[in-house]
Amino acid sequence: MSDDWRLVYTGYDPASEGLREALSTLANGYLGTRGAAPESEADGTHYPGTYISGGYNRLKTEIAGRTVEIEDLVNMPNWLPVAIRVDGGHWLQPDRHETPDYEQVLDLRRGMLERHYRIRDHEGRETRIAERRIVHVHERHLMALEIAVAALNWSGHVEVRSGLDGRVENKGVERYRAFNGRHLRPLEARADAQMLFLKMETVQSELRVAVAARTQILCDGQPIALTPEVEQDDDRCAQVFATTLEQGRTMAVRKTAAIFTSADTAISEAGDAACKLVARAPSVPELFESQATAWAHIWQRFDLHLASKATPNGNDAQKVLRLHLFHLLQTVTSEDHAAKSCIPARGLHGEAYHGHVFWDELFVFPVLNLRDPEITRGLLSYRHRRLGEARATAQEAGYRGAMYPWQSGSDGREETQALHLNPRSQRWLPDNSYLQRHVGTAVAYNMWQYYQATGDIHFLAHRAGEVILEIARFWASTATYNARHARYEIAGVMGPDEYHDAYPGADRPGLLNNAYTNIMAVWVLCRALETLETVPEGHATRLRDMMGLSDSELKEWDAISRKMRIPFHDRDIISQFEGYATLEEFDWAHYREKYGDIQRLDRILEAEGDTPNRYKVSKQADVLMLFYLFSSEELTELFERLGYPFDPQSIPRTIEYYESRTSHGSTLSRVVHAWVLARGDRTRSWQLFREALESDICDIQGGTTAEGIHVGAMAGTVDLIQRCYTGIELRRDALHLSPCLPDDLHRLSFRMTYRGQPLAVDLTPGRLTLTAGRRPERPIHVKVRQEETTLAPGQTRLFEV
Ligand code: BGC
Repeated sequence: MSDDWRLVYTGYDPASEGLREALSTLANGYLGTRGAAPESEADGTHYPGTYISGGYNRLKTEIAGRTVEIEDLVNMPNWLPVAIRVDGGHWLQPDRHETPDYEQVLDLRRGMLERHYRIRDHEGRETRIAERRIVHVHERHLMALEIAVAALNWSGHVEVRSGLDGRVENKGVERYRAFNGRHLRPLEARADAQMLFLKMETVQSELRVAVAARTQILCDGQPIALTPEVEQDDDRCAQVFATTLEQGRTMAVRKTAAIFTSADTAISEAGDAACKLVARAPSVPELFESQATAWAHIWQRFDLHLASKATPNGNDAQKVLRLHLFHLLQTVTSEDHAAKSCIPARGLHGEAYHGHVFWDELFVFPVLNLRDPEITRGLLSYRHRRLGEARATAQEAGYRGAMYPWQSGSDGREETQALHLNPRSQRWLPDNSYLQRHVGTAVAYNMWQYYQATGDIHFLAHRAGEVILEIARFWASTATYNARHARYEIAGVMGPDEYHDAYPGADRPGLLNNAYTNIMAVWVLCRALETLETVPEGHATRLRDMMGLSDSELKEWDAISRKMRIPFHDRDIISQFEGYATLEEFDWAHYREKYGDIQRLDRILEAEGDTPNRYKVSKQADVLMLFYLFSSEELTELFERLGYPFDPQSIPRTIEYYESRTSHGSTLSRVVHAWVLARGDRTRSWQLFREALESDICDIQGGTTAEGIHVGAMAGTVDLIQRCYTGIELRRDALHLSPCLPDDLHRLSFRMTYRGQPLAVDLTPGRLTLTAGRRPERPIHVKVRQEETTLAPGQTRLFEV
C-alpha cells in the first residue's frame, strides 16, 4: 500500500508515546479513543482517553485563593484494556520487555490502527503480536479490537485479561493537574462469562454512560470455548481467559465494545442499548470490513490529490494532508448529534482546552462547505441552539442581541478559565481572553458562508437569519459614538492576537477599536441588513416582529456600518487597535538568541516580570485575518462604505509589517500568513504552508499535540490547497476561481459541491479543468478570473489560467 495512506511509527519510543496516541486517535464524531496501548494504564507515558462529543461535566477546585469552576470534556471509561501473559510471568508490555521490530501504523484509507511487534520476555520467550482496532465510522457506538498472539519459540499457558476501566480521570494535561478531574461516579459493574458491563455517571451533569463488551478467543482462526474467571469492582470489571498455546500456533483475542449515554436518542436506556448492540454486533472481521467500506466512500468524496515536491520533515505533503483530512472528518459530529457539540479546538483527541469550542470553526467550515455542507448545517445548529444563552449573556453584560462566549461547552455559557497557569513561572494569572468578542462574528460569518455555498434559503430564513440579526444587534449595542472622530467605536475587547489584552499599565483589561473586530462588526451589520432583503418577505417580517426590530434600529445599524472607526498608522497600515503605534518595538534578535523557541513570548515575558502588552508583538494573525477572510475587492467595498481611503497596494506592506512582528504562537497563525501571502509572495506562502503542515505531525509547539490535535490548523492546511491556491470564493451567487499555484505544486485535483452540484476540479500550472456532475440537472454560475460562464450538468470546461 502506498505510504501516502499510512502514518507509520517504527520502534517503541516512550518519549513520543503521547504524541503518537493523539495522532493515532480513532474517532467517528460521536466518540474518539486515543491510540493508547490496550495493555497499559495511564502513567507518565501512556494516556488512554475516550471522549464523547458533548460529554461535559463541571467541577470546582480551590486555586490561588479562589474557587474555579471548569467544564471538561470528560474522559470516559476505557474500553481498551487487554493484557496477555505467559506462564504467570509479567503482563507483556513494550515498556517492560524488548520489542525488536515494533511498528505502529495508522491506516488512513481504512480507518484502522495497527501495531505489530515481536516481544521478548525476561525468560527469552518470543511472541509476535499483531493488533488492529477500529472505532466504527458508521455504527457510531461500536468499537472493535483484535490482538493476534503467535508463540514463536515457546509452548505454554496463556492468560488474557480483557476489561473495562472506569477509574479514569481527566489528568491528560500537565498544567491542569491542579484542577479536580474526577468526573465520574460508578453506578454498576458486572462481569460474567459472556459480557463485561460498566455504567458510570458524571457527578454534576448526570450524564450516564454505559459500556458493554464481549471478548472472544480463537486459536488458528477457530473460536475456542473458554469460561473466564471474572473480576469485578465498583468501577471496573474484567474477564480472565486461560488456555495453552503451542509453539508455532496463533491465538486471537477479539473484543467488541458498545458505548451509549443517557443523552443518546432512539434508545430506551444507555445500559440496555449498549448490551443489546454488543450482543447483536457483527463479528470483528466483519466490522473491520464494513469500516473499510465506509471509509472508502468517505475518501471518494473528500480525498484531495496533490503532486508536489514538499516533504515537511520527511513526510510527504500528500500524506500529511490526508492525515489532516482524516482527523478533521473523524472529529465532525454526525448530524443527529451536532446540536450537542460542535468542534472542540483539540478534537476528540485529548484534553487540552478542556474540550471547549472556540472560533476555530472559521477555519473548518469552509472545507466542509465545499464538500458536504450537510455537515456544516448540522454543526451550525450547535450555535443556533445556544442563541438563548448568548442573548442572556449579552443582557447580563449590559448589551443587546447575542454575545457568544469565547469558549463554549455544553450550554453555551462562557467557559473561559478564570485563571491560567504559566508553566514557566508557575504563576496563576487572570485569563482575559473571554474579551474576544469577535467569536460572534465568526458565528455569523460561518452562517452566511454556508448559505453562500448552498443557497439554502430555508436555513437562512429560519436559523441563520435569527442568529445573524442578533449578533448584529449586539455589535450595534456595543458601538458608542465618539464626537471627536465623528465615528463609532468599540471598547473593552481583545482581538485574535492573545498577546494584547490591555494597555500597558492599565488597571482593567480590554482594548479600544481592534480593527479586526470593528470591520467584522461592520460586515455583520451589512449581512444582517442583506438577510432581511434576501429571505422571502413573510420571513423578513416574521424575523423583524419576533425581534422587535424597528425601522429606526435598522437605520442605526446602517449608520454604524458606515461610520465605524478603523485606526491606521504609518500612513496606511491598519493598526491592530487604537494606540498600537505607540507601543515599543520588540528586540526579536535578542529573544531569539536567548530562548531559541519564542513562539510563546507571552509566557517568556511574564516569567521575566514583563508583558507583551508593551510591545508590537503578535501571537497570531489579527489585522491579517481581514485579508484571510476577504478578497481585496470585498475589503475595498467595506472601506468605501466606511469612507476610508483604501489602496489594495497597501496590503503587501501591511502583511510585511505584521509578519515581521508575529511569533506564530498559535498553529492557526501560519495558515493565515500562508494564505495572505499566496498571491504576493508565493515562495514564502509555500514555506509557511509547509510549516503549518508540520504543526502536529512534528509537534512544533513542543508537547501540545499530545494533549490533542489542532483541528483548526489541520483544516486550514487543507483549505489552503482547496480554496486558497485555487482562488475559490463564494460570492454573489457565483463560484469564483482565480488560481495561483505555488511553484512547488504541480497539480491538484479534488471533488467539490457547489449549490448542490458536484464538480471535479483539476488544476495544473496554466490550466484549470472543471467538470460538472450529471445530476442534479442544475447549471452553475462560474467566474474564472474575469470570464463569467455557466456550467451545464455533465459539461467539462478548460480554462487558461
Ligand atoms: C489561539 C486561539 C484559538 C485557540 C484554540 C489559541 O492558542 O490563540 O485563536 O482559538 O488556541 O485553538
